[in-house]
Amino acid sequence: MRKMSSAIAIGVALLASVTTANAQAQTYPSRPVTIIVPFAAGGPSDAVARILGERLRTTLGQTFLVENVAGAGGTLGVSRAVRAPADGYTISYGHLGTHVFNGAIYPLQYDLLTDLEPLALLPSNPMVVVSTNRVPAKTLRELIAWLKANQTKVTAGTAGAGSGSHIAGVYFEKVTGLRLQYVPYRGTGPAMNDLVGAQIDIIVDQVSNSMPQIRAGTIRAYAISDTKRLAAAPEIPTADEAGLPGFHMTLWNALWVPKGTPREVIAKLNAAVVEAMADPAVQQRLNDLGLEIPPREQQTPAALGAWHKAEATKWWPIIKAANIKPE
Ligand code: MLT
Repeated sequence: MRKMSSAIAIGVALLASVTTANAQAQTYPSRPVTIIVPFAAGGPSDAVARILGERLRTTLGQTFLVENVAGAGGTLGVSRAVRAPADGYTISYGHLGTHVFNGAIYPLQYDLLTDLEPLALLPSNPMVVVSTNRVPAKTLRELIAWLKANQTKVTAGTAGAGSGSHIAGVYFEKVTGLRLQYVPYRGTGPAMNDLVGAQIDIIVDQVSNSMPQIRAGTIRAYAISDTKRLAAAPEIPTADEAGLPGFHMTLWNALWVPKGTPREVIAKLNAAVVEAMADPAVQQRLNDLGLEIPPREQQTPAALGAWHKAEATKWWPIIKAANIKPE
């Protein structure tokens, strides 16, 4: 008899929690949602988060606030998201650097593969080698020669150890035999300001961050790390064409939520992100920045989960072998 009544009690409790989760999901979101961007405002991650955030507000009827929590190559912002309540009101924005490379560089207090739930893969972009206009070089070959001749003096801006711009710089060093001196910023947004102001010499940057300045002629672009030219800037050669064969790197972006976030909430958020990336006006803004939207079948939470694991398996041994020091 007692066994029966406790089984019923458990059943009722379970039913109650499922009903609550469903009810929560139905009313979700009932207040503003925060997207934590682990880099400074004005940079490439910030730009994508704001473009999508605006469109998510249209679909879900609540403001999607971007909170920039920068520092330590993005690990501070990710840590903040991991520790947030699993209620759908905090989203972790990140990329290949923050959610893969950093796992092999920093002694993290969280597990990048299990302490966050995948939400959606976002647009990606290749890297571009850019310099201040003061650098006396017009081609990639001339730039590499100038860098080699001034190795002890030249500076390369990054968003901190493990960031996309840093690892791209390390990769650029490896394929050119150069030694660069890195100047870490809280994001490539502020680094770009100093590149335009000729306070630093080069950045191996995300195309989306450099595009407005390249178009304005305030910086010089030499090559992109992709096998095909950009539709948004067909005048920039690929690294293969510019004399650095094999220098290929694409930085993908994505969204995660804290572990334990209700499935129904993840499904609702994912549907809204997919809708945003299918919106022609959003697509235009992203494409104009040189960003490529992932195919529909890669936009599911499960697809991101599988991709994330595969990327960690591929990159962690490589990054560990490069012996990169955390900040
Ligand atoms: C940023 O938003 O500043 C970038 O994503 C930084 C980077 O990884 O280079």
